[in-house]
Amino acid sequence: MKLEPHDLEKISGFTLEHYDKAAEDFWAGTRDHDVSQNIAALLQYIEGAPPFQILDLGCGPGRDLKAFAERGHIGIGLEGAARFAAMARAYSGCEVWQQDFLRLDLPESRFDGVFANAVLFHVPGQELPRVLRQLHATLKPGGVLFSSNPRGRNEEGWNRGRYGAYHDLETWRRYLSAAGFVELTHYYRPAGLPRDQQPWLASLWRS
Ligand SMILES: C[S@@+](CC[C@H](N)C(=O)[O-])C[C@H]1O[C@@H](n2cnc3c(N)ncnc32)[C@H](O)[C@@H]1O
Repeated sequence: MKLEPHDLEKISGFTLEHYDKAAEDFWAGTRDHDVSQNIAALLQYIEGAPPFQILDLGCGPGRDLKAFAERGHIGIGLEGAARFAAMARAYSGCEVWQQDFLRLDLPESRFDGVFANAVLFHVPGQELPRVLRQLHATLKPGGVLFSSNPRGRNEEGWNRGRYGAYHDLETWRRYLSAAGFVELTHYYRPAGLPRDQQPWLASLWRS
């Protein structure tokens, strides 16, 4: 079923409202999440000399933005929820752009890496090709995209007040390849558990 412009507005609007309303609880529940494996994976594949310019897409309250800054890199956050954007600025001291994933306005060839931790599943499949092309264009040639998403069987829709799309590896690969990305690697999280207890699919892509 085709999503019309008013459907897309609802998807962004309600999802962002959900995060805005739960901002403090979300921060309390996620500030200690250990995603150092994902941060290290992104940094490992970026070529050239640090410091790197990193776009933390959907940075939330700023946990990972601060981690990039502490490692000496230049992190810029992008976040749609106003409260998260303010929290991320205060917590990380980094610049944070308040933007909707479905109305991105990004500079060309600016970033060495894009870190999209638990965010791209909020983009409806219909809009994903366009959003991925925009991320490809904001990376420098040879730049790296990191993405981690809850995986599924390619279903999408509303889930407790937020819109989500849950892709399997094959479908995710098709989207990324069509946008011009080349796969570097992928893995499942949390590490060390049987596959059926690893809901997260992490993947790395070169532009
Ligand atoms: C599951 S949270 C992940 C936050 C952070 N990356 C982390 O790992 O803790 C998803 C993030 O995407 C943001 N988001 C969801 N839909 C968005 C949209 N349409 N535009 C901009 N940000 C959006 C939310 O506000 C939230 O910060």
